[in-house]
Amino acid sequence: MISNRLEGKRAIVTGAGSGIGREISLRLAGEGARVVLADIDEAAARAVADQIAGDVLVQRTDVTSEPEVEALVARVVDRWGGLDVLVNNAGVGIAADAPGTALEDWQFVLDVSLKGTFLGIKHAVPAMRLSGGGSIINLSSIAALVGLKDRAAYCAAKGGVLALTRAAAIDHVEEGIRVNCIAPGTVETPWVDRITAGYEDPVAAKATMQARQPHGRFVQPEEIAAMAAYLASDEAGSVVGACMTVDGGMTAR
Ligand SMILES: NC(=O)c1ccc[n+]([C@@H]2O[C@H](COP(=O)([O-])OP(=O)(O)OC[C@H]3O[C@@H](n4cnc5c(N)ncnc54)[C@H](O)[C@@H]3O)[C@@H](O)[C@H]2O)c1
Repeated sequence: MISNRLEGKRAIVTGAGSGIGREISLRLAGEGARVVLADIDEAAARAVADQIAGDVLVQRTDVTSEPEVEALVARVVDRWGGLDVLVNNAGVGIAADAPGTALEDWQFVLDVSLKGTFLGIKHAVPAMRLSGGGSIINLSSIAALVGLKDRAAYCAAKGGVLALTRAAAIDHVEEGIRVNCIAPGTVETPWVDRITAGYEDPVAAKATMQARQPHGRFVQPEEIAAMAAYLASDEAGSVVGACMTVDGGMTAR
């Protein structure tokens, strides 16, 4: 049963137009939060906003642009008087080992996932301070915890997100700002189809990704959204600098 435990909270979700970000946005709004849906694909974010009955804003944002992230935070503060929750969800991946990774692809993956998360934290913290505290939730991955084949840049980016999460958690805990990350296993989103499309046999590649989870199926985006809603809520008041795995047992082997 979905509660009203996020009533009154003002939240930003990046990458809100698809997959995990979409489900997190719907769940936060469903639990009573006011949500800004930020995505580089404004039309996609708007389509998600159309499914939300409550207070919702859409802002086209490229998380790699500091002025755009700054403007995103400023809009929430202007409109709703503060910021309580930031979900740094926008991220991209490519399938390649290090020798097969072009420098610009490395930079692209690191920019969206790691620099984007850094910029989110950088600009959300001052707004949260003025709001009396908050919760920042970063999307890392089990790629931060185990080596995944053909994911050199992605593992590096998500490892960086995990380390940054812990650093920011310690920096800001005394200000009442909790910083945590979620490490999903393989989640059934459009991203999985995109990444497997690059393989010679995309169907076999998808089956391999599914079989990696010991519980025998893909993680569902709703299961990540449930974890995000918990971390956003006051029920998670002692959860600080944590890496919450939602991976069907993948890292328990
Ligand atoms: N799907 C998985 O198996 C999985 C597993 C672990 C972690 N994750 C992480 O979860 C997050 C969401 O993944 P997903 O599977 O929902 O992906 P997705 O591709 O379905 O959605 C990503 C969204 O981010 C947006 N986006 C991309 N670049 C952006 C930018 N520069 N600025 C703002 N928005 C941007 C896209 O437009 C899209 O709407 C990512 O950080 C991803 O690395 C996914």
